Amino acid sequence: MLEVLTRATGHLQKHGSTSARLDAEVLLAHALGMGRIDLYVRFDRPMSEEELARYRGLVAGRSRGEPVAYLVGHKEFMALDFLVTPAVLVPNPDTEVLVQRAVAIARERNGPMRAADVGTGSGCIAIALAHYAPTVEVWAGDVSREALDVAQRNVDKHGLAGRVHLVEGDLLEPFPGEFDLVCANLPYVCGQADLPSEVRAQPATALFAADGGAALVSRLLAEAPRHLSHGGRLLAEIDAAILPVLQVPFTGHKVHRDLGGRERVLEAWS
Ligand SMILES: C[S@@+](CC[C@H](N)C(=O)[O-])C[C@H]1O[C@@H](n2cnc3c(N)ncnc32)[C@H](O)[C@@H]1O
Repeated sequence: MLEVLTRATGHLQKHGSTSARLDAEVLLAHALGMGRIDLYVRFDRPMSEEELARYRGLVAGRSRGEPVAYLVGHKEFMALDFLVTPAVLVPNPDTEVLVQRAVAIARERNGPMRAADVGTGSGCIAIALAHYAPTVEVWAGDVSREALDVAQRNVDKHGLAGRVHLVEGDLLEPFPGEFDLVCANLPYVCGQADLPSEVRAQPATALFAADGGAALVSRLLAEAPRHLSHGGRLLAEIDAAILPVLQVPFTGHKVHRDLGGRERVLEAWS
């Protein structure tokens, strides 16, 4: 098994994966139906022809640029497991900064709170917030029916159907009532951006926005004050490149950095 793993790692490295060993391990564990840690406990386990063929198929998909999460059908985010399909963006560790701030806001408030998650995709922000902040009720929306189907499966998987409600439509338009917190990880990539193939493999509606990437976040910033309760807050994931063109019609705002030190989350309050 170790020899197969070493060969697959070399193959993925040659095809440009920057996390070849990790990818090879995750795919092997998936092909064998075991946890990654078990690969090391059972490193001398022989592989059947069928298992080898399954693994080769997965490695071939990865070397063509398919994201590992699409190949195995799930991804960890905020220490929770999410189902993912090519209809949704793969939850990104950079987005955990936004969720951690949202959970902190909920804990400071220490009472019932209504939150909105705009552009929910797999539902990862809404579900992680509801999971870690039990006083919060979340409405989560998306324009993509296919994405909402995946989000619904994740809501059910995490047993949160009573506290996470899905709505379909453009930005805040389908959301009922006022919110204490509006969260959003909307598309903010400029169409001309040079992206790795595993990013390009994700839905264009989840990645790109007009006006150099700023169009949707700009529209959300303009709409959000009408949907926020008194003292409400907004948290929006951004790329530093769009920050200079954003108008922030709030009393105050600040920007939080991600683990790599990049400006990543705009927090605004009225
Ligand atoms: C960058 S993905 C984020 C998905 C998820 N929130 C996450 O953090 O992994 C953006 C999501 O916004 C949705 N979206 C794009 N335009 C939208 C719009 N005008 N209104 C609502 N959702 C939109 C896309 O379908 C996609 O699911």
